[in-house]
Amino acid sequence: MPILKIAPSLLSCDFANIQREVEAIEAAGADLLHVDVMDAHFVPNLTIGPPVVAAIKRVAGKPLDCHLMMTDPQRYVAEFAKAGADIITIHVESNAPITETLNAIRKAGAKPGLVLNPDTSIEAAKPWLSQIEMLLVMSVWPGFGGQKFIAKVLETVKAARALAPNLDIEIDGGINAETVKQAVDAGANVLVAGSYVFSGNYAERIRSLRVN
Ligand code: DX5
Ligand code: ZN
Repeated sequence: MPILKIAPSLLSCDFANIQREVEAIEAAGADLLHVDVMDAHFVPNLTIGPPVVAAIKRVAGKPLDCHLMMTDPQRYVAEFAKAGADIITIHVESNAPITETLNAIRKAGAKPGLVLNPDTSIEAAKPWLSQIEMLLVMSVWPGFGGQKFIAKVLETVKAARALAPNLDIEIDGGINAETVKQAVDAGANVLVAGSYVFSGNYAERIRSLRVN
């Protein structure tokens, strides 16, 4: 299994102090910065767009992992890459023509990945597993931080790990010191955590997620 990485979700940080939050979370041991982009259509929430990604990029040292929860991500991937996204993941449930959009992400200089909602089978991502740099399995319904972990997605993580032993498999939603063990045992190696990491001592919370 590839190396374990912790990706705090900036959705739970103090947006009035993004620079300070980015510096603090990196000093606390973050490996990636997870950026949740929501379009108020694919999910019932509206968050961060390219100008804010560009602002984060100016103060970030770690790679930006941009999770596009958008109905039409194909229209925006080049703009997010230009703003400084290092990894761009798109949902298989979106309207995007998948092959074309993954290629567009690469062409724009970022690493492409796919995302599966909790009810979506691994079969939906199978044709592209050799063409992506990361597979993100949602362990909550996308849209909001602070929701309860959906354990049944562990089956999807296990199936993905069996199919792709060397792929970065990310899990997102409800990850904390209790749920992390099951996620890692199932084969996830990139752990997104928002509310858990930002509601306590950042370094201690990140350390508590480094299980193996
Ligand atoms: C949910 C987002 C997550 C979210 C995770 O739509 O994709 O990244 O911020 O938050 P927690 O860790 O609080 O579940
Ligand atoms: Zn996310």
